[in-house]
Amino acid sequence: MLIRNETVDDIPEIRAVVTEAMTMLAQSTGTEAQIIDRLREDKALALSLVAEDDGKVVGYLAVSQALVGAQDSWGLIGPLAVLPSRHGQGIGSTLIAETIRRLRMTFQGAVLVGDPRYYGRFGFRAYPELGVGAIPPEFVQALTFGVAEPRGEVIHHPAFGLKQHG
Ligand SMILES: CC(C)(COP(=O)(O)OP(=O)(O)OC[C@H]1O[C@@H](n2cnc3c(N)ncnc32)[C@H](O)[C@@H]1OP(=O)(O)O)[C@@H](O)C(=O)NCCC(=O)NCCS
Repeated sequence: MLIRNETVDDIPEIRAVVTEAMTMLAQSTGTEAQIIDRLREDKALALSLVAEDDGKVVGYLAVSQALVGAQDSWGLIGPLAVLPSRHGQGIGSTLIAETIRRLRMTFQGAVLVGDPRYYGRFGFRAYPELGVGAIPPEFVQALTFGVAEPRGEVIHHPAFGLKQHG
């Protein structure tokens, strides 16, 4: 399996993989593929990684830049999606490991909204003053690369369509 940056030719496959994977997620809005398209159109994808196996896209991970309160330079991970027929084979973990490796070079940390039972294994955790709107705080998690403790509202790019005030 190869983890690499997306190319223009991957875009239809990325949409298909994300759409299929998100049918497995109860909290999915069904708009994740569109969010990625909007981020791309706005040149807001700081990272757009595909997992390729046997010439096919089997996993995908997006990173966009986020503010955490008054702190800039946070990498927001998501959406993350793996083709359901390929779950449990380490594809998601490999995408996250490569993302963390790359983000360390330019960001002060990574943040995401997701299941702590999954992301805890990569070192992500909730912080007392970290949040996103009315989302239960245990689902808002960060991994810091430096000394700064994440503090405040995670301001997503407008492509996510969240109602936020920072
Ligand atoms: C979450 C997802 C990306 C994981 O991808 P994956 O390639 O199957 O993950 P890995 O193979 O690296 O890891 C699998 C492990 O994670 C666990 N896991 C997966 N989703 C989990 C969740 N929501 N909560 C707890 N554990 C989870 C699996 O049980 C498995 O555990 P094991 O290692 O003890 O067997 C994939 O299940 C997916 O695309 N789900 C639908 C979309 C989604 O939920 N995206 C994340 C949104 S925050």
